[in-house]
Amino acid sequence: MTADLLDGKRVASEIRAEVAEKVRQFVRDGGPQPCLTAVLVGEDPASQVYVRNKSRACEKAGIDGRTLRLDAETSQQELLETIQTLNDDPGVHGILVQLPLPVGGNQGKGFDERAILDTVAPLKDVDAFSPVNVGLLMQGRPRFLPCTPHGIVQLLHRCNLSVAGKHVVVVGRSDIVGKPMAMMLAQRDGSCGSEIANATVTLAHSRTADLKSVCKTADCLIAAVGVPEMIRGDMIREGAIVIDVGINRVGDKLVGDVAFDEASKIASAITPVPGGVGPLTIAMLLHNTLLAAKLQIQS
Ligand code: GUN
Repeated sequence: MTADLLDGKRVASEIRAEVAEKVRQFVRDGGPQPCLTAVLVGEDPASQVYVRNKSRACEKAGIDGRTLRLDAETSQQELLETIQTLNDDPGVHGILVQLPLPVGGNQGKGFDERAILDTVAPLKDVDAFSPVNVGLLMQGRPRFLPCTPHGIVQLLHRCNLSVAGKHVVVVGRSDIVGKPMAMMLAQRDGSCGSEIANATVTLAHSRTADLKSVCKTADCLIAAVGVPEMIRGDMIREGAIVIDVGINRVGDKLVGDVAFDEASKIASAITPVPGGVGPLTIAMLLHNTLLAAKLQIQS
């Protein structure tokens, strides 16, 4: 079998066009131009690229995409005060602190990432990392959905794939992808209705015994571990849907967490890397920024 390719790039551009249209409508109806401010601490090359891409995507959608650059020597206190200033600025609707924060930052002491993310005002928290937004998701009444898992839900929906009643195995328990992904697919009702929800979910991780056998039981396997090509063909059930969240640089190549050539012979549908999940994250960030602007004019 040769798997269908799930074209995240195409779906992302569809969503971006929809958000752009909704932004035009919102502004036509008298709303402010939505504004997203990304806070970039230090000079990590990958983070610089991500932030630049986010800012360009904002401009194309009619969103004011700003970047606040701070050097790695910035102190924890200064960073907290910067976020507080953005929280208090009515012209800023969404705030995003680009991760990872520099390891040797905060004058060599390292940043307390949790304290920083906790400081972002929940109504401006377009990453959905704050405890309030995580809690609302957990209770099945989300405000903002985290961008990467939400992008995956949209991709499944727009490719007419259902996970209701199926066994989904999520590999990786990060706060950004694995945990919220598992929660979203187990809910009764999702952002795209009941078909991209109601799954029986296993959240596997580095201490899972016999990971291969667990993965082999998956109707839908979602890999979010950050280990290049860790999921091999013999870990995939014939006909499974495979979603690869990994973006790993190996030499001058980008590879996913799934060994693509092996997996695509066994799966029924698979996301490529690049061009799969990656582009959806930014599309959903634009969606959240517009939502943030709408919520703030109501509050
Ligand atoms: N770094 C990698 N992914 C993300 C993300 O989704 N949000 C932020 N803020 N930083 C990231």
